[in-house]
Amino acid sequence: MLVRFKLNGEDIEAEAEDDERALDFLRRLGMKSVKEGCGEGECGACTIIVNNKNVASCLMLAPELNGTEVWTVEGLSSNGNLDPIQKAFVEVGAIQCGFCTPGMVMSAKALLNRNPHPTEDEIKKGMEGNLCRCTGYFKIIDAIKKAAGEG
Ligand code: FES
Ligand code: FES
Repeated sequence: MLVRFKLNGEDIEAEAEDDERALDFLRRLGMKSVKEGCGEGECGACTIIVNNKNVASCLMLAPELNGTEVWTVEGLSSNGNLDPIQKAFVEVGAIQCGFCTPGMVMSAKALLNRNPHPTEDEIKKGMEGNLCRCTGYFKIIDAIKKAAGEG
């Protein structure tokens, strides 16, 4: 079907198979930040923001994106300037292999959009769908605090 939606602020129309995952559809449209880890909704590597909510794109079908507003990491920086969350991840050193990072950044963005000053517990809860095998999570939490102006 023809999927019409807003992707990173731009109106997009693109054909998708009825059974195509949103993950594959977005990667086909060039959004290579959207990573496949588990493919089963467990790791968060494929997280995108759909209508202000962080969702696992491996569990969504491309046709379900019709009429939605979608954000991926590709849409975060503007005029060469990183989003405050991206900047905080770099400055704090919350990135090791980097595979989980785009999903982490999108979940953090969704969290700060709905709660600009989260407590540490709220950060942990907001990020519980995102797994990282490298960092031990402490620096990721520090980066989110910093992006919230509290680190
Ligand atoms: S690839 Fe989607 S949650 Fe792991
Ligand atoms: S930085 Fe390697 S999985 Fe998170």
